[in-house]
Amino acid sequence: MQVVDLGCGTGLCAPLFRPLARYMVGIDLSPGMLAIARQQRGHLYDALLQGDGAETLLSASELRHRSGGSPSTGGSVDLVLAADVFVYVGELERTMRACAHVLRVGGLLAFTVEELELPPPALDAVSGTPETTTTQQQRRRRTDAHGQHSPRHELVLQASGRYAHSRAYVGRFFHSSVDSEGEGEGEGGAGSASRTSHAAPFHLEREESVVVRHEAGVPVASVLFVLRKV
Ligand SMILES: C[S@@+](CC[C@H](N)C(=O)[O-])C[C@H]1O[C@@H](n2cnc3c(N)ncnc32)[C@H](O)[C@@H]1O
Repeated sequence: MQVVDLGCGTGLCAPLFRPLARYMVGIDLSPGMLAIARQQRGHLYDALLQGDGAETLLSASELRHRSGGSPSTGGSVDLVLAADVFVYVGELERTMRACAHVLRVGGLLAFTVEELELPPPALDAVSGTPETTTTQQQRRRRTDAHGQHSPRHELVLQASGRYAHSRAYVGRFFHSSVDSEGEGEGEGGAGSASRTSHAAPFHLEREESVVVRHEAGVPVASVLFVLRKV
């Protein structure tokens, strides 16, 4: 399997995925992170490339038709991982396009985002009880953002310096099973049909709430997405 560890940092994912990989390349914007990756886990990568993820995916000769990619199957990469990286990228259009470019048809893109919850009610809508302290802290973290709200509040640059993405924002990049089975009801319809772009090059395989980090003792609500290129 050919694997790209996008935003590989110091290479913490490498020991987990190397056993699955015949060829594994790490890409990172930061020369400092790559220096540590090279020193500590360089033996686990076939190549470590420095640069912006999207730009590097579109230009790196290491990834171009390495193992039989063709115009009909797209690229040759089987898996692109982006663990805790898109929180630093913000707008994801270009990166998603670049991932689709290098993946073979059927290949997987796995990534996490911090969740932007929209919009939080004052009271628990179901029980009518006041929010928990944790919920209040999480809301403060979201609304403390230094601005940079997208027009539809789907993407926010938080006070932490990291972006939070709503599930609706990420949903524009994939088709859900509702769509792919032809049962979608179009804009405003059931399931996630209303948030899906039909030009999306991906199909949703998995969407799971996870905790990627704690901040001041509070779990930061995040989402793991696994998309399959179609
Ligand atoms: C929190 S670290 C995660 C590292 C690694 N994926 C892990 O799970 O340990 C985020 C990494 O994304 C990198 N990064 C941020 N923006 C990037 C971009 N546009 N292109 C490539 N790497 C980027 C940072 O340099 C940093 O190493």
